[in-house]
Amino acid sequence: VRVAAETGSYELGDHPDFMHKEIREQPAAIARVLAGRLDERAATTRLDGLGLEPRHWQRVRRVTFLGCGSAYYAAEYGAQLVEDLARIPARAEPSSEYRYRNAVVDPDALYVAVSQSGETLDTLAAIRELKRRGAPVVGAVNVVGSSIANECDGGIFLHAGPEQSVAATKSFTNMGLAFALLAVQLGRLRDLSLAQGARLLSGLRRFPDEVEAALKTDDQITELAARFRDCSHMFFVGRVRGWPIAREGAQKLKEVSYVHAEAYPAAELKHGPLALVTPAMPTIAVVPDDELLPKNLATLTEIRSRGGPVVAVTNADLPPDAADEVVRVGRCEPELDPLVLSVPLQLFAYRMARALGREVDRPRNLAKSVTVE
Ligand code: G6P
Repeated sequence: VRVAAETGSYELGDHPDFMHKEIREQPAAIARVLAGRLDERAATTRLDGLGLEPRHWQRVRRVTFLGCGSAYYAAEYGAQLVEDLARIPARAEPSSEYRYRNAVVDPDALYVAVSQSGETLDTLAAIRELKRRGAPVVGAVNVVGSSIANECDGGIFLHAGPEQSVAATKSFTNMGLAFALLAVQLGRLRDLSLAQGARLLSGLRRFPDEVEAALKTDDQITELAARFRDCSHMFFVGRVRGWPIAREGAQKLKEVSYVHAEAYPAAELKHGPLALVTPAMPTIAVVPDDELLPKNLATLTEIRSRGGPVVAVTNADLPPDAADEVVRVGRCEPELDPLVLSVPLQLFAYRMARALGREVDRPRNLAKSVTVE
């Protein structure tokens, strides 16, 4: 395991709370997870800390990500990226489920344990079980020197810096980027072309600026939170690339504001939850500018025609009547855009929590790191 110095500060500075600070410092945190890992000449990425020999990289025929909470949602995004870019079957699973379900352990799979703290017991137990059964496990961990970092065979440090608010924000974004780095490296050793590698590298280089720009939605989001603060329930919808982001957005809102939020894959609404749509049930829709845009717009129409207010968080040019409110961010590259769309959702959870007077950094009943079962 490569040990790097922790960067970032433990001080609150001018911020009202740590969640605000940690959302705001994402551009710098992102620059750190990318630093030294982009190989422009070969249009690929280098994750030397994984400690994999070239023949191991070639042999990986399946990738399984394990994590809890936000780490699990980030892993779902990562699994999609690996399948998409490297054409290797990949999946994500909550480690608490994995460890108890007598899974088939594949010695040619790459197991990735995902954790901000590196101390989550369910993830640690899954690692120990995998290792007992002879599988190598690598980590995607933020805290250097943590139990998970120490027990893994190698890893990708997230370099998000100290995260003190219970709700994961910058660590979630850096997890997503770590998986983009992994997917590009796996892909370039297979069929991902030089041109595609170069395109993704250019997107990664622009990424801190895109997130900086997305943070400028804060004033608009603050107004939205003032409007929605009395809502008891909300839907978050997205599909394919937008789906893990919608799940994380709903999780964030529940955690810090205590407003009930449910995430659905957009096309699944019509199979049940549409019955709940009323003017008192707003929907936050994650709408990336990708090939599913027309399908996503059709879902928004279904919701609005039943009286449900819709806020679209998007990087696309939407028709004027597509949503009641549009929160617009910039475009990076389609594979990376979902992580930019997650920034306004972090801000929304934060502003709702503030509007409701919650103790943002220490939500009731929750712990930053869950070291019990
Ligand atoms: C706790 C925290 C979550 C976090 C999860 C996993 O439940 O409240 O914010 O996502 O643990 O934590 P880890 O440190 O393993 O990423």
